[in-house]
Amino acid sequence: MRFYIHTMGCQMNEYDSVKMAGLLEQAGHEQVATPEDADATIINTCHIREKSEHKVASLVGTFAELKRRRPDYVVGITGCVAQGVGKELLAKSPVLDFAIGSTELAKVPAVVEGLRAHTLAKVLADDVDRDPQTGKRNREALHYPFIAPDILPQRSTVSAFITVIKGCDKMCTFCVVPYTRGMEVSRATDEILAEGRAHIAHGARELVLLGQNVNGFRASKTEKPDFAGLLYKVGALEGLKRLRYTTSHPRHFDEPLARAFAEIPALCPYLHLPVQSGSDAVLDAMNRSYTAGDYKTKIDLARRFAPNLAVSTDLIVGFPGETDADFAATMRLVEEVGFESAFVFKYSPRPGTPAALLESQVPEGVKAERMTALLKLCDDLQWTTVRRYEGQSVEVLVEGPARDHASRWFGRTPDNRPVIFEGAANGGAGTGATPDTVDLTGMLVDVTIVKATPHALTGAVVAGGAPVLARAA
Ligand code: SAH
Ligand code: F3S
Repeated sequence: MRFYIHTMGCQMNEYDSVKMAGLLEQAGHEQVATPEDADATIINTCHIREKSEHKVASLVGTFAELKRRRPDYVVGITGCVAQGVGKELLAKSPVLDFAIGSTELAKVPAVVEGLRAHTLAKVLADDVDRDPQTGKRNREALHYPFIAPDILPQRSTVSAFITVIKGCDKMCTFCVVPYTRGMEVSRATDEILAEGRAHIAHGARELVLLGQNVNGFRASKTEKPDFAGLLYKVGALEGLKRLRYTTSHPRHFDEPLARAFAEIPALCPYLHLPVQSGSDAVLDAMNRSYTAGDYKTKIDLARRFAPNLAVSTDLIVGFPGETDADFAATMRLVEEVGFESAFVFKYSPRPGTPAALLESQVPEGVKAERMTALLKLCDDLQWTTVRRYEGQSVEVLVEGPARDHASRWFGRTPDNRPVIFEGAANGGAGTGATPDTVDLTGMLVDVTIVKATPHALTGAVVAGGAPVLARAA
């Protein structure tokens, strides 16, 4: 059977899709690049913002014609929308064959096979208990197993994701994640290290540790969060050149984590620390458990250990009750911290979350105005920071040939900026060397930046410069 996976949403979803593909491949099926070439399509969905269920429903609807021509074709959804409203979508859509929540991805191969063999009809895999009164899920029951570490994508990548903790206990009043991905459950350290080693053996040089709140990681249920402890262990893996993690919660960002930037050579000077708002009143209403002042103190601490630290963040405008003064506080905080980049979101009421029930919802027009002003400020700040790169030489981990520039390479700086550059295989920059002259994939090279924009840095390998580190065999 050939299958196609369409992934929406966050890096956790990308990771889950890779795992799902691994499970299906292990069961003897083949991943293909288009739905047309496949016998089954799986849409791995996201529920975080906007009218995601409508988006998913209309995407599913586009398969009606394919299914009419090929009645055995299977269409299913997995992930957070399936977890949240899978039952309703299955009942409504004649096209949809299955909905499997984030907790039960391991069931995907058996379900797809059963549907193809007609031993199964429509499937809803969502055995999580619901409270009969409220219809809400029992969050404790959302504990689900991590998929085994030996399942890796067949095509190796230079940069690989590893989920180290899933779910979230923080219960921010705007956020649906605790309801779709359940409580925080950390993965066993041995499993994480085994998966890291396996990725490195397959060619990975960079590992990105993932979790909704990655720094809530605990080595065991009875221990306090100690994500720094895990970083030291992963950072010591042989063959690893770079280590990153995302997303952290400010609450668990402490001195050991700040110190790790100075002490773990592979750990990149980059921190994504969502602040959401600069107003203490809004932060309190969001249940974020810190003030704007606490946040700034933590960034100062991190910068003491990593003076070149690039900090990025997530911001929400138009949270219920947000006044002009609250919004002004967010603008101030953004300037004071000097974020390298920021994701700005308009508050979107999520069904089942406390903030959605608040009466003080901010009108759409006000949200849009604030969004425009904040994006403009973030953009201006980005241009200022990014110009610093022009004329500088930066260390780039090469991920492969650049997609849209046949004769160039693509990689990232330690602080996560994408770089597109010319190789130097024939004796220096600007010689027009083609990517296949010498395969730079997986190497660390020094690149001189000629032009810097917030979207990408462009440049060329330092003249005569050999790769900084040859790829391990
Ligand atoms: N665990 C992360 C956030 C995960 S969700 C943390 O520490 O905050 C990714 C981002 O989506 C959030 O940081 C938030 O900015 C945004 N987001 C989540 N729910 C939202 C909602 N209801 N409306 C608008 N943005 C939202
Ligand atoms: Fe969501 Fe807050 Fe957790 S934003 S993922 S509930 S930290």
